[in-house]
Formats: sequence, structure tokens, C-alpha cells
Amino acid sequence: MQDLSNLPIGVFDSGVGGLTVLKAVRERLPGESLIYLGDTARLPYGTKSAQTVAAYALEATRALVSYGIKALLVADNTSSAHALDALRAEYPGLPVIGVVEPGAAAAAAASARGRIVVVATESTVQAGTYPRAILHSRPGAQVTAQPCPLFVSMVEEGLVDGPIAEQIVRHYLDPLFSGPDAGDCLLLGCTHFPALAPLFQRLLGPEVAVVDSASTTAMVLEDLLSLRRLRNHSAIPGDIRYLVTDAPERFVRVARVFVPWIIAAPQVETIDLG
Ligand code: DGL
Repeated sequence: MQDLSNLPIGVFDSGVGGLTVLKAVRERLPGESLIYLGDTARLPYGTKSAQTVAAYALEATRALVSYGIKALLVADNTSSAHALDALRAEYPGLPVIGVVEPGAAAAAAASARGRIVVVATESTVQAGTYPRAILHSRPGAQVTAQPCPLFVSMVEEGLVDGPIAEQIVRHYLDPLFSGPDAGDCLLLGCTHFPALAPLFQRLLGPEVAVVDSASTTAMVLEDLLSLRRLRNHSAIPGDIRYLVTDAPERFVRVARVFVPWIIAAPQVETIDLG
């Protein structure tokens, strides 16, 4: 059988936020080469319909497959919520994982009393995928899904702390974390929200578990690669290649919010998905 373990893993997002997931994969699987595709020409996905998101995700996957990937990680929550089945049906031989199931399983395990609040984009909330996945892992849980569209632009503006950020976070979360039905777990169902995790934790207090799906997703990816004998155990760090569909300079600038390393402009290639 052909050894595919040296091939890269494709990581797909609507834009720059998926770098939170890329970072978790890099930390867990440093020997793996990665190709990151951010569909910056068509973001945000979080306000779009299920059909549009699925069509975009299929086009992005087709592009990544043409680079010769051994597995696909859908870092974008909105695409993970709407399009995984379509992607798996279109590419039956390609291992495809998303962030919803790993995140849901992590929240189901972390919640003390099963009162779980998922924050996500409008489109992800409309899909209902997170509550279904949480209830699958923890039947009887009380799940509330809250769209928080402002968080995406706040993070891209670097507004992750201070009085304005605090007020916006309180606007969305205070009603969900007070009273007899208060949540005990906050699941971050959007690529951008880990940047706000310290603020969420400070405002909600230590008794609320703040769960980010990125690290659990990296673990699930590792298991899947091992199972399919696709792991690259190289001691040399794998390459990371960045593809965008528009505005590479903005990608480079905003990336600083999400990854601790510098992405240089010449490392980012602009491609056309059409
Ligand atoms: N990447 C998206 C997500 O995780 C957030 C940004 C967007 O709406 O495109 O749902």
C-alpha cells in the first residue's frame, strides 16, 4: 500500500480565525505538514445560508484536494455545522474531521451539571448541530445556543479586553449565566472566540468551564491519523503553507491575534476557487 503519511493535512476556514485550530494542531502534531486555506474573499460564512456555506466548503475542499492532502480538517465552525456530510459524501476516501463533535464532547465532559451554553455565529446556531452533538454525548443536558456575531469583529479588531469588550461580552452572556438556570459551561463554537477566553473566564468566574474545541479537535485528528496509518512522526517540523482567496496583507496583519508566530507576506499565496 502507498505510504501517504508524508502528505500534508488540509486545514480550511472562512478566513483567519481557523488559525486557532491550526495552532492547536501544530502544537500536538509538529511533524505534520499543513496547508491552510482561508476563504477571505467570501467571509464571513457565519451570516450565510446552509446551502451557500456547503457550496463554499465544497469548493475549498476541491482546491485543497488538488494540492494532494492526506486528510481534511474543517476548522471553520460554520462549515463544520453545515457541510461535513456533504464533504464526506463527495470525498469518500478522504478522512474529514470538523470541530463541532470534538468541541461538543469536550463540553459534555467538562460541564458539572449539564447546563451548557454554546456561543457561535448565527448560521452555526441555526444549523442546530452543536446542541445535537452535545445531547448525543450527554443525554439530558440543557443546551442553549447563542449567536454572538459582534465577537468576530471585536477579535479581528484586537478588542479582546478592556471596558468595551467587557460590556459587549456582558450583553450576550450575563442573561445566560445568571438565575436558577445559569449555565455552568461555555463552549466556544467559533474560530475567533478562543481569543476572548481569558475575558470570558474572568467575567464568568472559575466555577464556569470555558471550553475551546481546538485542542480536542487536534487530539481527534491525531487518533484518526493513527487509525488510518497516516501519522507523520518526523522530528523535523513540517512545512506550513498559507493560501487565501483575497487580501493577503490583511490576513497577515490579523493573524497576529491568533498565532504567536509571525506569518510573512511572501508565505501567503492568493488563489482563486472559482
Ligand atoms: N470561521 C467562522 C466560524 O468559526 C467565523 C467567521 C465567519 O463567520 O466567517 O464559524
